[in-house]
Amino acid sequence: MTKNLRAIASASGTFKIGDFVINRLGFGSMRLTGRGVWGPPADREQALATLRRAPELGVNFIDTADSYGPDVAEELIGEALTGRHDVLIATKAGLRRPGPDQWMPHGRPEYLVERAKGSLKKLGVEQIGLWQLHRIDPRVPMQDQFGAIRQLLDEGVIANAGLSEVSISEIEVASQYFKVATVQNRYNLVDRGSEDVLEYCERNGIGFIPWFPLAAGDLARPGGVLDSLAKRHAATPGQIALAWMLKRSPVMLPIPGTSKVDHLEQNVAAALIRLSDDEFQELDRSVR
Ligand SMILES: NC(=O)c1ccc[n+]([C@@H]2O[C@H](COP(=O)([O-])OP(=O)(O)OC[C@H]3O[C@@H](n4cnc5c(N)ncnc54)[C@H](OP(=O)(O)O)[C@@H]3O)[C@@H](O)[C@H]2O)c1
Repeated sequence: MTKNLRAIASASGTFKIGDFVINRLGFGSMRLTGRGVWGPPADREQALATLRRAPELGVNFIDTADSYGPDVAEELIGEALTGRHDVLIATKAGLRRPGPDQWMPHGRPEYLVERAKGSLKKLGVEQIGLWQLHRIDPRVPMQDQFGAIRQLLDEGVIANAGLSEVSISEIEVASQYFKVATVQNRYNLVDRGSEDVLEYCERNGIGFIPWFPLAAGDLARPGGVLDSLAKRHAATPGQIALAWMLKRSPVMLPIPGTSKVDHLEQNVAAALIRLSDDEFQELDRSVR
């Protein structure tokens, strides 16, 4: 299997973020950390192997955040991918971590700037290819948070900027401060609350990064609506869910997350699956 899978992520098509041309099927690094997205991975060697395997498969877009661990995912990426200028690392800040499974928005401008500069060091890069505001902090004027992003772009700390969990009106306000390169909202085949934002992104050439693309593994399990199509394509249900998303929109940039090399290989192989228009509609209808 391993040899045949070389660079297959390129079969997912490409998308441009600033000067970077990425293959649309990427990788999410949150699951590399310990339980509750806290602390080191249960299997450090497997986590590093997963990260090193990704670019061999053609994955050149990796999502992370300062808060995964915290710091753990960024440090693992820095260690595994040091010197790999062909991979766009997309990180984020704006959430504080008091403990496992706890996330608190924190959007003071000086905090955002400090965390972005800290990410440079952990990732071992001179500039962050894509930096995303993890959450808009409701306690801080959003204009101040967008102003911090403008500052990071002007200082060259970051090359491109994106947002996470936002509405269309929030994207429009942010666009007065900087070019919104990407939006990262929760989205998958059975969770379509951000359909309006996806359509806005498509109209405006903004990359849409669906987090939770496998519904935390639920869509990868056999026994659901994806089964019959999976059998038809000699694929797994998770691969069909990812193939459906890739077909849904040319701006869709899924980042399935895993801590295991074999799951990574399985997920990336979804790039090779071509659903027909009828199959796409059939799935769409079956979950609506
Ligand atoms: N912007 C945000 O607020 C936000 C929030 C959450 C996540 N994210 C980003 O989005 C990425 C993806 O989201 P996610 O990790 O929550 O959900 P996901 O990608 O839908 O699911 C990941 C889970 O599915 C399992 N899995 C993955 N591939 C599998 C396979 N082939 N077979 C069986 N199980 C499989 C993984 O377990 P194993 O490790 O056992 O494979 C993991 O527990 C994250 O890594 C992170 O980068 C962003």
